[in-house]
Amino acid sequence: MAENCNKDKKSGNVCNQHQTRLEHICDLNIDKSPSDIKKTGIICTIGPACDSIEMIDKLIQKGMRICRLNMVHSSEEYYVKVIENIRNVVAKSYEQNQVAIAIDITGPGARIGKFKSDIGNCITLKTGNKMLFTCDKKYEVSCDRKRVYVDQPEFFNIAEVGDLIFIEDGPLSLKVLEKHDSTTLICQVDNGGDMANFHQCHIPKKLPGKPVLTQRDKDAIAFALDNEVDMILASWVWCSSIIQSIRLELGTKADAVHVIAKIQNHEGVLNFDEILKVSDGILVGRGDLGIDIPGEKVFLAQKMMIGKANSAGKPVICAAQMLDSMVNNPRPTRAEASDVANAVLDGIDCIMLSRETAIGTNPVKVVETLSAICREAESVAFTDSVFRELQLQTPKPVGKTHTTAIAAVEAASKSKASAILVVTTSGRSAAMIAKYRPSCIIIAITRVPETARYLHLFRGVYPMLYSEPCCAEWIDDIDKRIHTALLMAQSKGFVAVNDSVVLVTGWSAGSGHTNTLRLITVPILTNNMESRPSLVKLVDVKSNPDI
Ligand code: FBP
Repeated sequence: MAENCNKDKKSGNVCNQHQTRLEHICDLNIDKSPSDIKKTGIICTIGPACDSIEMIDKLIQKGMRICRLNMVHSSEEYYVKVIENIRNVVAKSYEQNQVAIAIDITGPGARIGKFKSDIGNCITLKTGNKMLFTCDKKYEVSCDRKRVYVDQPEFFNIAEVGDLIFIEDGPLSLKVLEKHDSTTLICQVDNGGDMANFHQCHIPKKLPGKPVLTQRDKDAIAFALDNEVDMILASWVWCSSIIQSIRLELGTKADAVHVIAKIQNHEGVLNFDEILKVSDGILVGRGDLGIDIPGEKVFLAQKMMIGKANSAGKPVICAAQMLDSMVNNPRPTRAEASDVANAVLDGIDCIMLSRETAIGTNPVKVVETLSAICREAESVAFTDSVFRELQLQTPKPVGKTHTTAIAAVEAASKSKASAILVVTTSGRSAAMIAKYRPSCIIIAITRVPETARYLHLFRGVYPMLYSEPCCAEWIDDIDKRIHTALLMAQSKGFVAVNDSVVLVTGWSAGSGHTNTLRLITVPILTNNMESRPSLVKLVDVKSNPDI
């Protein structure tokens, strides 16, 4: 079933008349408009091109839901200021929807230092040029055209004469000609390209062997805790014990911070099942992966990881070179647009932008373009077959929340509901519904700000924070929350009077009691809570005939 096909009669609603994927594909129609509602989450790396209050506001308006701060690129003072800007924008205009903050920690990967100020941020190396790599701290912020600092001493232990060192995503590569005292490498440019401040340097299949956190990562985790960020994106996770070390470092706050494993090398792919079990989500880091494994195999790793994360109901993010040409251009290449769309069709929850927003010439345009591509792709996702396949994979019996989630998605499909509205505390009920990929939006209303932010990781979930005082009776409170969420959904154009909506709630307060599903017809809503029609409280049916 999908939105953008010829048999679909109602815009923004679903077509479930196709029995097979092939029949569905043959019926796609380029002249049909996609739904206005975007379901894929957009994560933007915040850097000099978009760190102001004004730019952050514009990016949120265009669809950014998670801000990524890559700690390696600037000082803690800078990121404190960025966090302050993000929170100011949210407090002023997006209190109800919230925006999450994710800190990227560098892991065991090696990076070069900073170029001398008279050189600028970046140099271009030509094939045949010589370059010296050193771990002498003296050069940390004074790299030049002949000598660059590398921040991991271990890098010098593992490098061997004849190795190829790839810079960032790989156009620039250098061959190790000589190695001196495990502190210096003399290299020759094998393939020319650019080298910029803090670029990664990677030797395929060689990463420091012990799964221990570096001091740099411990400092970044302390920063994440001090600044109460929502997520940690852990780079170069190649075994599950790295995630466990991060949780140990988080200590008593381990439950409050979600840890996403970035899979960037061969070993991470080999150990994927174990990593997935202990992580809160997965990021497919295609740039580095394409250096560690043959480029022609990256799509295999990507599809496998997306499939397994979808099966586990854990969010999966696709990253690297999503719309890279837009760093300098106003339009993406056709290949980039198709790549993004195919990642959405494969089942990703979020897309992460890197240079495109951090240093690009027009970050707002990038997010707008990405949103448009996502909406097109989401509108043609054949969600019925995903739903069927996921159910086949789920061993029975499943718990109450899980059963209710499956029933909600089935009910939404059968009734062509405009939305599933779920009342959630921890976010678990909403995440469970998202796993089964309903074709309609999932509105998750919660009293917990952390939950509202965390839920941005899940495809199709529109979190909404409810902060009104509690009612004397719990069921009244639930009723009021749902009414408020419907008002918001109506104002955003997600639902209209007389639409079907599936309501999912629990039978008592607190997490873990989700067991109730109701199908309602959206009544005429009112801002006056005293005279609102009751939605979940038992009432005399005659006095409430429309619901
Ligand atoms: P609260 O009143 O505590 O917010 O709970 C409302 C509720 O619908 C409960 O009935 C249900 O158990 C819970 O939300 C679901 O939350 P979670 O998704 O964390 O299990």
